[in-house]
Amino acid sequence: MKQAVFLILAAMALSACQRTADNDNGQDIAVAPPHIYTDAEKTAIQATFPAPYNTADLNAGQVQFGKCRSCHTISADKMNMVGPHLYGVFGRKSGTEPGYTFSEAMTQHNVVWDFDTLDTYLAAPQAVVKGTKMSYAGVKNETDRHNLIAYLKLETTPYVPPAAASAGASETASSQ
Ligand code: HEC
Repeated sequence: MKQAVFLILAAMALSACQRTADNDNGQDIAVAPPHIYTDAEKTAIQATFPAPYNTADLNAGQVQFGKCRSCHTISADKMNMVGPHLYGVFGRKSGTEPGYTFSEAMTQHNVVWDFDTLDTYLAAPQAVVKGTKMSYAGVKNETDRHNLIAYLKLETTPYVPPAAASAGASETASSQ
């Protein structure tokens, strides 16, 4: 079992290197096949999240994402629908993703999306960004929201092998 996981990780690390070799603008990462996380990988990555997200229920978060998926994609193909794609949304400045026409309100919101700013926004989008064209009332329940945001963090962050994610500095990380 351990060996199988290692082989999968090694294969992912190799293909990640190949991708970065000709990746000068971040765009060709869009064609990367989606990474399906093993339970062990999820546990290792989630352990690096701040509380309460480190103990959130990722499966429940996936169910919560059902509220968003009619308007948003989260995978590496970066497809915009009614709303902008959310791949790589953590660390992205609000209203700036190229190729999507944001409302004036979102363009001027001026936050970097992270656990806290997403938590505030998703609780009451229309109140937090007055004039947003995201016509969605918000995820009122705090636990639901935290589960959703933890799930988004896992699924929208470009894949990093868990050894690098949890240890901070490893050979795998330096080869990226
Ligand atoms: C009815 C469609 C719709 C639904 C449902 C919806 N959104 Fe949105 N979302 C949008 C639109 C449209 C925008 C662009 C807002 C603007 O420009 O004012 C947006 C913007 C966003 C942004 C800002 C992205 C950026 O790059 O600045 C985030 C984050 C976001 N949505 C997350 C979510 C999440 C998480 C959910 C589920 C709880 C959700 N949305 C549900 C339509 C939707």
